[in-house]
Amino acid sequence: MKIKITKTDQSKISDIDFEKLEFGRVFSDHMLEMVYQDGSWSEPEIKPYGPISFEPSLHALHYGQSVFEGMKAYYVDDKQINLFRLDDHYERLNNSARRLSMPDMDKEAFIRGLEELVKLDHEWVPKKHGHALYVRPFMFASEQYIAAKAAKKYRFYVITSPVAAYYNEGFNPVKLTTSENFVRAVPGGTGEAKAAGNYGGSFLPAKKAQENGYTQVLWLDAIEHKYVEEVGTMNIFFLIGDTLVTPKLGGTVLPGITRRSVLALAKEWGVKVEERRVSIDEVFETHKTGELKEIFGAGTAAVIAPVGLIHHNGNTITLDQEKIGPFAKKMFDTITGIQYGKLEDKHGWTHPVQVGSEVSV
Ligand code: COI
Repeated sequence: MKIKITKTDQSKISDIDFEKLEFGRVFSDHMLEMVYQDGSWSEPEIKPYGPISFEPSLHALHYGQSVFEGMKAYYVDDKQINLFRLDDHYERLNNSARRLSMPDMDKEAFIRGLEELVKLDHEWVPKKHGHALYVRPFMFASEQYIAAKAAKKYRFYVITSPVAAYYNEGFNPVKLTTSENFVRAVPGGTGEAKAAGNYGGSFLPAKKAQENGYTQVLWLDAIEHKYVEEVGTMNIFFLIGDTLVTPKLGGTVLPGITRRSVLALAKEWGVKVEERRVSIDEVFETHKTGELKEIFGAGTAAVIAPVGLIHHNGNTITLDQEKIGPFAKKMFDTITGIQYGKLEDKHGWTHPVQVGSEVSV
């Protein structure tokens, strides 16, 4: 496979203050682009990051055929950058695309394209532990056609952004509230896809939550409004007694890749793990009895984020976690240890990219 690379003649890197990174605000010098038409994808092309031009009839803007992934590239040393669970992200991208009636991405193009992009922009990968280069692959309907049916043309891009912690709280516990009036996903809907519209629909409830002093919404199921699902930007875990409990997947919860890693590690540590329905009443009850030890979220952007407070229907529970509980801390240290190449990667989760071996232009 040939990857055409056009390098920028004016790097922006010296304008960036790597000590003050806001999530998703600045982007590296290059992006990857692929075009789908007549039933197949073009070869990947890497070009300077910059505007892309479409007419107002761009299909994705009207009907939301748009899906994305969230990954990170981690600095190991001057010669190596690690990507994490690349195959899982590739598979999830395709599952999302299929749900939105969009084409599968080619695996070799996805992997090679990402490798070359990260190699080319390796200086953008922050060196500080905890910081990373956020990698955002996304696909959208690029046909200039507003009939309400699946488009025939698509674009795929990968852009990257150096990031610090996702939440302003850092390791200070986030505060969650359930929502009385809104739901994130319904059975048979698009909740398990990483579809752009799932996020757009969550912004109004999130804004209301933030106006009331909460960081995010803790989504409950749409039917009974009783069972905990996820946070939208991360999956949720409860340490109840000695058991790690997380809502089961099944169509309305995003199958998080950090979620999968947390479950695998917990099982290896001999912790009892349950993927099942968890009612909000159970969360409040086990808090009352003292069995609820820790609550944390897990996601690519958020990594492991301790939850210190949950509000539901006028009642609030707070966890006595000054920063992060010992279980969540161990999980954070282990996952980031593997990601940054400091701990042995027994699972083959990391995908090392050797820098200094860029393909020629
Ligand atoms: C991620 O964790 O990568 C996400 O996609 C969540 C959010 C930033 C939208």
